[in-house]
Formats: sequence, structure tokens, C-alpha cells
Amino acid sequence: METKISEIAEGIYRLSTYVPDIAPPAGFVFNQFLVLGDEPLMFHTGLRKMFALNRDALSRIIPVERLRWIAYGHFEADECGAMNEWLAAAPQAQAAHGQTGCMVSLNDFADRTPRILADGEIVDLGGKRVRFIDTPHTPHGWDAGVLYEETTGTLMCGDLFTQLGDGPALTSGDIVGQAIAGEDLFNYSGLNPGMGATIRRLAALAPRTLALMHGPSFAGDGGAALTALADDYDRRISAALHDNGFAAIKRAAA
Ligand SMILES: [Fe+2]
Ligand SMILES: [Fe+2]
Repeated sequence: METKISEIAEGIYRLSTYVPDIAPPAGFVFNQFLVLGDEPLMFHTGLRKMFALNRDALSRIIPVERLRWIAYGHFEADECGAMNEWLAAAPQAQAAHGQTGCMVSLNDFADRTPRILADGEIVDLGGKRVRFIDTPHTPHGWDAGVLYEETTGTLMCGDLFTQLGDGPALTSGDIVGQAIAGEDLFNYSGLNPGMGATIRRLAALAPRTLALMHGPSFAGDGGAALTALADDYDRRISAALHDNGFAAIKRAAA
């Protein structure tokens, strides 16, 4: 395996590792994002077993010891499994996540005390500014959140828009159809009534770049893509509610 590096927005680098054995023949990618600044931030740690690969990739951009912040979307191995390896390699680095994530997992899991971020709180990286946004249970995980980098309009949207395959680093093509296919295949989202509203709140940011954890980054009308994704989740949720309601009526009538 190799980790490819691409700059997907000014000063934001995508570190991408393709794993052909997951969901063959298309395969699956795992991406991390490095946001440069006086205090560089990495979004996602990558899997613990990919740490050496990712550390070597990151060190081709900056010395690993310069890393100051480590953030991620939600508590899962690909999002934060290598947290303590990174904390050991970068002595000045601190984990940062939302209140729920710190309370439920990170306060215990991280070898150093994390910074707790309120919903909407901004971390000034010096040259870049990232805002943490709570997205509970969206697409999954009570602790879920995303990061929005304001100077470039880049939304690091984690597992939202998950797709198969090893596409280009950056695309302006359709990502919504691929996301719908990914959801149909994996059923990875915790469908919930607040989901559409949560995603539309991200759409209102009108991001110019969407940095997907599992897929290419998207350059274009991020608001429209997020709104279309929210519409698809609304459709899934109302179909599930309708099916459940219909089954309950049939049970009551039997
Ligand atoms: Fe996930
Ligand atoms: Fe993920």
C-alpha cells in the first residue's frame, strides 16, 4: 500500500491510502487531511495499523513534531485509532473533539488530555481557522462532528458521501449518486429524524470544497451537493417510517 498526497485546497493536503481488499473489485480509500498553519491540524488519525504509512506521508509535508492539533469525526478505528501513536510522535500535539466525544471516549482513550470543543467553536491555526460542528448520529456516532475551514471554504465532512473506489484526488463531477450507492451497499448511516436538518445546516455554509474521508474531494457547489444528500436521507427516513407504520397498521388489523 502507498499513501498519496495531494493539495485539495490552498494549504490543505489529502493523504490517501487505497485498500483494494475492501469491497472488491472497486476497493476503498481512507483519507486524512492536513491543514497547514502556524499550528498544523490533522483531521482523522487513520487506522492504528496504517500509522507508519501515514506518518511517513505526513513527514513529506511537515516534520511530524510540528503537528499541533489532531481532530476527527467520530470514535472509530479509521477516524482515531492511531491517536496515541500520533500523540507520542508529536509531543506538542493535542487531541480536539466535541463535548460528547470527549466525555464518552476521548478523555479516557487519549494519552494526553484533549481540548473540548463546543458546537461552532473556532480553533485559530494561524493562517487557517477551523470550526467544529456537532452532527450527532450523522452519518453515525453520537459524538459525530465535522470541521469547516473558513478561509478556503473547505468542509472536512468525514464519512458523509462515502463511496467506493480509488477516484481522483479532486473532482468536480457528481458525488451524490456515488454516495447513494455507497449507502445502499453499506447501510452505514444511523438514519434519524434530525439527519436532514443536520446536513442542511452544513449546506448553509456553502462550502467550495468537500473533503471526503472515503472518496475524492469535491470542488464546486458544496451546498447543492449537501442539500441533495439531505434530500436522499429524508427519502430513506420517510420510507422507513412509512414501512414501519404500515406494518403496525397491518398488525393491529390482524
Ligand atoms: Fe465512521
Ligand atoms: Fe470513516
